[in-house]
Amino acid sequence: MEVLGATPTRNLALELARVTEAAAMMAGRFMGRGDKEGADQAAVNAMRLILGTVDMSGVIVIGEGEKDQAPMLYNGEKVGNGSKPDVDVAVDPIDGTRPLAFGRSNSLATVALAPRGTMFDPGPFVYMDKIAVGPEGKGRINIEKSITENLQAIAKAKGRAVEDLTTIILDRPRHAEMIAEIRKAGARIRQIPDGDVAAALMTAWPDAGVDVLLGIGGTPEGVIAACALRAMGGEIQGKLYARDEAELNRGREAGYDFDKVLTMNDLVSSEDVFFAATGITDGELLKGVRYLGDRITTDTLVVRGLTGTIREIIATHTTDKLDNLSSVRY
Ligand code: FBP
Repeated sequence: MEVLGATPTRNLALELARVTEAAAMMAGRFMGRGDKEGADQAAVNAMRLILGTVDMSGVIVIGEGEKDQAPMLYNGEKVGNGSKPDVDVAVDPIDGTRPLAFGRSNSLATVALAPRGTMFDPGPFVYMDKIAVGPEGKGRINIEKSITENLQAIAKAKGRAVEDLTTIILDRPRHAEMIAEIRKAGARIRQIPDGDVAAALMTAWPDAGVDVLLGIGGTPEGVIAACALRAMGGEIQGKLYARDEAELNRGREAGYDFDKVLTMNDLVSSEDVFFAATGITDGELLKGVRYLGDRITTDTLVVRGLTGTIREIIATHTTDKLDNLSSVRY
């Protein structure tokens, strides 16, 4: 092997895998129990506990929960053991709280890190219009253009017809016009009840069979997806979306520009990002948590921006050993 000089640096995403595994193992117990709050609290507790062991000085920039007043890792909270590096932290302890509470697919526990000051802070503005694609569509999308033009550009980049493309979009009344346009353009549609972080990741996951995410979803979820897609070679663009005049005016007074295209670089301006996601319930991307008596299995995606390495970690956790060591019971 030729020695090229630079020493490989630490991959913090591998430590993040422990964070999302713990959140998923705790939250997975709530599958189908109809208790969104309990699931969120369990995931947050586990995440906070393991985040505290990670070698970093982290500040939560994207904390989940404000929108629903759910238990949360709050914005501005310090996490990590206080050593270097200084990082921004984005958490979504459960993306897909409803699907988890009602036993449906594609709920994930996710965390992303980037150097301090590099993540977009959406403040209280919860919604963003988004378009996201995997590596083949990178550089071909433009949120300022029509959905039809974007679909044509993606189809061309992939060497396919628009009819061969699968779009994914949250099943919400606000998307009626977009869905009508996608249908007119001829692409296929997957309407999902929740979980547009998983949906954004699917565009960059060859086996998931999804080409483009469209529509309005959470802004925090958009920043998290930007961290992941940056590392996975895809692209996301967004535009803040105000639900009404009053929100638009509040946003403008606070200095937010609702007409500005938020490029991937605006959403996270560094390549040095780390991202991990663990499946809670089964999905196209990752398997959900399995409780096997003395063992629990988890399926985790771990990506690092600087190297572009994508890992899938299938882990077996031994419950009686963990119970002796941990302050939470999995
Ligand atoms: P949580 O499970 O974190 O609450 O988010 C679920 C989700 O579907 C996100 O994936 C999506 O971005 C957002 O909610 C959409 O918001 P809304 O349900 O208000 O349309």
